[in-house]
Amino acid sequence: MTTNTIKHVLSPLAQQTLQNNDLTRPVANIQPIKLLPWLQVVKIGGRLIDRGAEAILPLVEELRKLLPEHRLLILTGAGVRARHVYSVGLDLGLPVGSLAPLAASEAGQNGHILAAMLSSEGVSYVEHPTVADQLAIHLQAAPAVVGSAFPPYHHHEFPHSRIPRHRGDTGAFLLADALGAAGLTIVEDVDGVYDCDPKGANGSEAKLIKETSATALYESDGSLPVDRDLVDVMRNASNLKRVQVVNGLVPGRITAALRGEHVGTLIHSGKA
Ligand SMILES: Nc1ncnc2c1ncn2[C@@H]1O[C@H](COP(=O)(O)OP(=O)(O)O)[C@@H](O)[C@H]1O
Ligand SMILES: [Mg+2]
Repeated sequence: MTTNTIKHVLSPLAQQTLQNNDLTRPVANIQPIKLLPWLQVVKIGGRLIDRGAEAILPLVEELRKLLPEHRLLILTGAGVRARHVYSVGLDLGLPVGSLAPLAASEAGQNGHILAAMLSSEGVSYVEHPTVADQLAIHLQAAPAVVGSAFPPYHHHEFPHSRIPRHRGDTGAFLLADALGAAGLTIVEDVDGVYDCDPKGANGSEAKLIKETSATALYESDGSLPVDRDLVDVMRNASNLKRVQVVNGLVPGRITAALRGEHVGTLIHSGKA
């Protein structure tokens, strides 16, 4: 007698195309779990770090004081050096996928600067693969780690524009949303999102928007202090309900934001 011991693996997706939403929805349309629900992600804009000691020292002091209270993923963006490298690269006709890692390397440099300043507290800079695979163990060993806010698109960067469109704000949101983090605070050199650039030609008339939605910002056509793709991605967020944009030049704002206080611009995720 022969016994058939083959185990048949039944999968509801096996027999069908993944392109048909009506077929995949019953299987795929469930709320993802929150991997690190206690994590606070703080994205620091490159323009703050460009200001040197005057901005960095108080910022580092504030982050240091937050360490006993929160477990932090500190992500840094790119500033003036990326803008310079973009213009050199654009002049040479480099494709967008070559420009993306050039700018991302400045985000990494800024991260190394903050990590060095916080290293006596056990904080180090970690690369993308470590954030992807070993963040949990690093955050068991240390109260915070620092990484680059840029997503690692490289030659996968979308060709819509010559300037890489997925930058630090988008990268920080994608990570925070995927990890199911408790919050994302975006740290700028202005009080939040205004109805027009507060440092532009009509800056004196700019009004701070205290609360808005990703959809409203997506549909607006003015300039923003955050990536346009951030507000696009936020419309389809899985976990993160909102982000807060705060001024990192005012001591105490990051601390207040991480405690849930409304001290900048709240941007709500979702399509509404
Ligand atoms: N609607 C707006 N609200 C606030 N700031 C704006 C707006 N539009 C443009 N900005 C400008 O964006 C600047 C921040 O630039 P950004 O490239 O986001 O810096 P970072 O790289 O540090 O995030 C602010 O200093 C401000 O002058
Ligand atoms: Mg910004």
